[in-house]
Amino acid sequence: MSQRTLVLLKPDAVQRGLAGEIISRIERKAGWRFAAMELRTFDRATLEQHYAEHVGRDFYEPLLGFMTSGPSIALIVEGENVVPGIRALAGATDPLAAGAGTIRGDYATITRENLIHASDSPESAEREIKIFFPAHA
Ligand code: PPS
Repeated sequence: MSQRTLVLLKPDAVQRGLAGEIISRIERKAGWRFAAMELRTFDRATLEQHYAEHVGRDFYEPLLGFMTSGPSIALIVEGENVVPGIRALAGATDPLAAGAGTIRGDYATITRENLIHASDSPESAEREIKIFFPAHA
């Protein structure tokens, strides 16, 4: 089933020079394509919308502080089963639990700096695309 998803390459990915490697992994998958891509330092208001379901969690403030710390790259990726597909490519939220061969498993060690966000369902993807790419909603 063709879907679209919202991907964020977090500030650690840009700062560590891993954006190209991550984009390349996504691009190598046959049948997936980029529909939008933008480098931007997100403001707090944007991230408050994006992470609204996590308000009050112990990681909420550290997460927002990290996500506003420097430029990220936001992308819309389209293609067959791209929502679960990119989640699988990313690996588990905790990089130490992420498998070898996944983005987080290969390049990250701590949960806050876990390189990539990818929508967890087609419904989340549509909600998140509205926040980061209103012209594509
Ligand atoms: S939950 O409990 O399943 O709803 O949460 P989870 O999906 O594991 O995490 C939600 C997002 O919070 C990030 N996170 C953290 N950021 C900073 N510090 C800590 N300790 C931390 N723990 C979790 C996690 O990476 C998720 O961000 P996204 O952007 O969705 O990947």
